[in-house]
Amino acid sequence: MRKFRIGLGVTGGIAAYKAVEVLRLLQKSACEVSVAMTRHATEFIQPLTFRALTDKHVIVDDYDPANPDPIAHINFSQSIDLLLIVPATANIIGKFANGVADDFISSTYLATTAPVMIAPAMNVTMWEQPATRRNVAQLKADGVRFVEPISGELACKTVGTGKLEDVENIVAQALGLLRNGESFEDPHTARRTPNSIDLRDERFLITVGGTREAIDPVRFISNHSSGKMGFAVAEAARDRGADVTVVAGVTTVEPPENVKVIRGVSAQEMFDGVMKELPNVTVFVGAAAVADYAPVNAANAKIKKDDRDELTLQLKKTPDILANVSKNRHQGLLVVGFAAETNDVIGYARSKMEKKGLDIVVANDITKVGAGFNTDTNIATIITRENESEQPLMSKRELADRILDAVIEMRKAAQAPA
Ligand code: PMT
Repeated sequence: MRKFRIGLGVTGGIAAYKAVEVLRLLQKSACEVSVAMTRHATEFIQPLTFRALTDKHVIVDDYDPANPDPIAHINFSQSIDLLLIVPATANIIGKFANGVADDFISSTYLATTAPVMIAPAMNVTMWEQPATRRNVAQLKADGVRFVEPISGELACKTVGTGKLEDVENIVAQALGLLRNGESFEDPHTARRTPNSIDLRDERFLITVGGTREAIDPVRFISNHSSGKMGFAVAEAARDRGADVTVVAGVTTVEPPENVKVIRGVSAQEMFDGVMKELPNVTVFVGAAAVADYAPVNAANAKIKKDDRDELTLQLKKTPDILANVSKNRHQGLLVVGFAAETNDVIGYARSKMEKKGLDIVVANDITKVGAGFNTDTNIATIITRENESEQPLMSKRELADRILDAVIEMRKAAQAPA
């Protein structure tokens, strides 16, 4: 079973030392934990403690030259299933509630779509202040979960509500949220529980990456596809409960775990891999950049320059995988294609939709900065027969989830009475 990935944010209160116990209990429950701390938290406990226990860099400051990741808050925020803040000070609660992003943890909060759980600990007067109450109410309205502080003797020797809940209870609530996947999706924040398993009845087949068409044993025709977009769709579908198979060409990133990977490096190999798997699936997604043409005959030996100033390659059309999938579709199969365009993006995408018989086409304008090949982000329009939904710059994983939302919508529409 896949491990839950938890981002543990530790902020500056006397209860910071209890975050160590939370970390240990989460690890015992087979969670993978990455820790981030505020600068004030380091006054109470050393990052080294967490580093020793997680064997990972503990992020305090995005800009610290020792930080191995130059865009840490984006990568951290997008690689977690839950952001858990233990303990949470009045200060961090105020920042989250007001969209202030002036340190790593508050930037992570804004950058993540994972659910957020907060375990506050503070002096009773601070907890009961109208400003804190307002901030807590705002965050609850935004879909943030609270593990409420309990009553008892506080570090400041006063008695009242503000003590961190028992660590066992915090961990139990975090695991309950992750395992039960109770949805608290909010239309404004789009926060999604990791177990929104709305695709549990679907089996996905996804083409990923670029193809490589041999000219001779040394040279080939290919393109810039990294596989990031296709793997993001695979990861998102897996997280939402689908069974996922990918047929991957050339990729520069690792495939997600718990996804079946078949390699098909040339267009013909990719076609063969897809056709073999197709009868078993319910949704096909063509995210690969498949070469449209390949050399008619790849030379068996390295082509020599000799005295030639010019060399002519004769190319033949490759099989169109997407069009064939659509043509041979069995009942209930949904077919999703991509269109990588440089001009008249929507027009060309719609004509591909018609020609290839697609249910959904995702049109990306690869001339835009942050879109298309080999980027971690994309800008696209998700097109169905009835709808066009423009998606601004976002991570490929977020776009993948929006494409899957369109798949769900299509299934719902098919089930609705006419
Ligand atoms: O992998 P990344 O670096 O993350 O980049 C992502 C991407 C830009 C490759 C991806 O977002 C994308 O747009 N993929 C489709 C690229 C493409 O080749 O588009 P196309 O317009 O040439 O093809 C249209 C559709 O037909 C695509 O779904 C393609 O997979 C499919 N096709 C094309 C030719 C062919 N012989 N067989 C196919 O299945």
